[in-house]
Amino acid sequence: MTFDVIIRGGIVATSSDTFTCDIGIAGGKIIALGTDLGTAAEIYDATGKLVLPGGIDSHVHIAQPSGPGIVMADDFASATRAAAFGGNTMVLPFAMQQKGESLRQVVKDYHAKADGECYVDVSFHLIIADASETVLGQELPALVNDGYTSFKVFMTYEGLALSDMEMLNVMSVARETGALVMVHAENYDAIRFLTDRLERAGKTEPHYHSASRPIPVEREATHRAISLAEIIDVPVMIVHVSNREAMDEIARAQRKGLKVYGETCPQYLVLTAKDMEGLNMEGTKYVCSPPPRDEASQQACWEGLQQKIFSLFSSDHCPFRYDESGKLAPKGRTSFRWVPNGIPGIETRLPILFSEGVSKGRISLNDFVALTATNHAKTYGLYPKKGTIAVGSDADIAIWDPARKAKIAQADLHHGSDYTPYEGIEITGWPVATMVRGKFVVRDGKLTGAKGAGAYIPREKSPLAAPAGRIPEV
Ligand code: URP
Ligand code: ZN
Ligand code: ZN
Repeated sequence: MTFDVIIRGGIVATSSDTFTCDIGIAGGKIIALGTDLGTAAEIYDATGKLVLPGGIDSHVHIAQPSGPGIVMADDFASATRAAAFGGNTMVLPFAMQQKGESLRQVVKDYHAKADGECYVDVSFHLIIADASETVLGQELPALVNDGYTSFKVFMTYEGLALSDMEMLNVMSVARETGALVMVHAENYDAIRFLTDRLERAGKTEPHYHSASRPIPVEREATHRAISLAEIIDVPVMIVHVSNREAMDEIARAQRKGLKVYGETCPQYLVLTAKDMEGLNMEGTKYVCSPPPRDEASQQACWEGLQQKIFSLFSSDHCPFRYDESGKLAPKGRTSFRWVPNGIPGIETRLPILFSEGVSKGRISLNDFVALTATNHAKTYGLYPKKGTIAVGSDADIAIWDPARKAKIAQADLHHGSDYTPYEGIEITGWPVATMVRGKFVVRDGKLTGAKGAGAYIPREKSPLAAPAGRIPEV
């Protein structure tokens, strides 16, 4: 047979195996693994390179409404282009509902923003902000059936925070439909209380953002989210975990046999609250929630990855521009309270984990693949179409130079933000080519893919959540 492409001579790694072989690709799929595969329209010589499943970033925010006067720095074109340069072949942003909005309409509008704009494949989670009877009784179950099989709920943020009653109602729908619930776990009232106190004391610089959401705020909400999920007997993914105490809540639930899963992110491995100290407005560049903590928390997050308490490593890419407003909009609002939460990271997630994890010997190459691709596909109903290198899977592949050294620099990145919080971090190992369904999107540092070549991928139900069932009898 003649293939479209043969990737020849690379070291192929999946979440379980590492082997040297050639990959034969045709019609966007992996057709053969082996040697002497025959002829192809194109041979890519991967000698000395690693050939990995393309990264799947299952927690990114793109073109999401962010409050009056605040515009996210990435649209689908810029975010998915940056994702491709960072070795990703698929991203999962959120179609975010705001109070009073029809969820169906939100999804329709979000598709309109993505259609024809993407360089890598995409699929959408939902964000439920208005847990009304219509949303929970009609729209959400219908959307789950249509392939929107996961949704995020917030325990904090003005206009987004759900009460415990609302959380229980949303979780019941997830249980009954076989959807997976993702939880942003921080105690809203505690944050409001602390924010008011800090402001009254005149402590309004950006670095006080961390002081307004200390570890107990996250630990308590994590405990509560898990308890609510236990009552409903529904699996939950606790996203962006930043510290040991929240992680211990997850680990305890896992030891009990509860279906509780965890995700952590680069900011919790390589940033700390100290990065913001003495920076004044520049500190806004690091404002995200939960906030980066201290070295002990970084160590805890590494242990969480090593011990598989965390199954996902995502970027939580949530990009804003610093430029004229210092990330604050509208102008004139100077307290940390008004700084939009979120930092860019879609392009740097994989290099940071590869360098700090694989190159420095903290995690194996196979665990890297699991944490950045395979587990995302398995968790969100995309496996084995996505997330692995196997015959029959989509040819979503990242080719890495494990020896390439680089310093992260805003000037080299492709996202819409005008800064990176990871500036100057030294990296060993960088993706040199990214292929989505058999077509190179990035090659030798150049964009070779076409805008619009990235497709929307409807998802199966998460095997972690399905089958659908009834909530426990009382
Ligand atoms: O600060 C953050 N994480 N912003 C993004 C929104 C979220 O909570 O994930
Ligand atoms: Zn969140
Ligand atoms: Zn997020």
